[in-house]
Amino acid sequence: MADHVMTWEGIAEYFDAKQGDEGDLWHRALINPTVLRVLGDVAGKRVLDLACGNGALSRQLARSGAWVTGVDGAEGMLVRAREREAREPLGIVYHAADAARLTPLQDGAFDTVVCNMALMDIADVEGALREVSRVLLPGGRLVASIVHPCFEQGEHSAWLVERIGPATQVSRKVGRYREPFESTFFWRVGPGEIWHTRWYHRPLSWYVRALSATGLAVTALEEPAPTEEFLQNDTEGEWIKQIPLHVVFGAVKLGGGEAAR
Ligand SMILES: C[S@@+](CC[C@H](N)C(=O)[O-])C[C@H]1O[C@@H](n2cnc3c(N)ncnc32)[C@H](O)[C@@H]1O
Repeated sequence: MADHVMTWEGIAEYFDAKQGDEGDLWHRALINPTVLRVLGDVAGKRVLDLACGNGALSRQLARSGAWVTGVDGAEGMLVRAREREAREPLGIVYHAADAARLTPLQDGAFDTVVCNMALMDIADVEGALREVSRVLLPGGRLVASIVHPCFEQGEHSAWLVERIGPATQVSRKVGRYREPFESTFFWRVGPGEIWHTRWYHRPLSWYVRALSATGLAVTALEEPAPTEEFLQNDTEGEWIKQIPLHVVFGAVKLGGGEAAR
């Protein structure tokens, strides 16, 4: 496995503890509600959770009646996902594979692919989208969430908090949008212990072109807003109410003879 995936091995234990069975606050109360809304009813559907991490979303979808397969490039993530499955079996099958080489999966095997907060972490995302298109049935859907490339650019973006008399004014500084670039995300996994993973900035238009090139047409684009739970537990909530840090999109695989959803 390439270096960029191996780095996820180092944080698998930390990531599993952080996400638990329902996702951390950012997943549970900010990103996932929009992902689930765009996904709609998954009961009876064959769903691939691509780059599934510790399987928290896989498990939520399985509890909603989906037949779920989870894939991740980091074996350490899947160890935790399989442990959770062993403790409470939901019929989820997990495979270790690079997103750009889904060899264990057959053509047209899925109605839906969900890829939660991971496309920006995948080096060969064009290869991954080709594989998503291959494993989807015609008319099947991809639902994916990513960091919002317009407002979240790692070290090239920041909140600007200005105190003007009694008022606080918050805006977002962004410095690098148009060109793709590779960067590092730092995870503070313990006191004085920092791990890093690679991530890849790509503009929104880049994603839409990459999707189109594999026969996937964008049919939904949402910018998650904080829920009440998020607002009550994270001061960034009030700021994210004004400026979104994530995008959720839905795309349909053309060729199903159906109108775009
Ligand atoms: C930010 S985590 C998101 C995990 C999960 N979807 C969630 O929302 O909790 C990104 C995941 O992408 C996986 N990943 C990164 N690059 C990958 C690749 N090329 N192929 C498969 N998985 C990959 C990592 O191992 C990690 O589990």
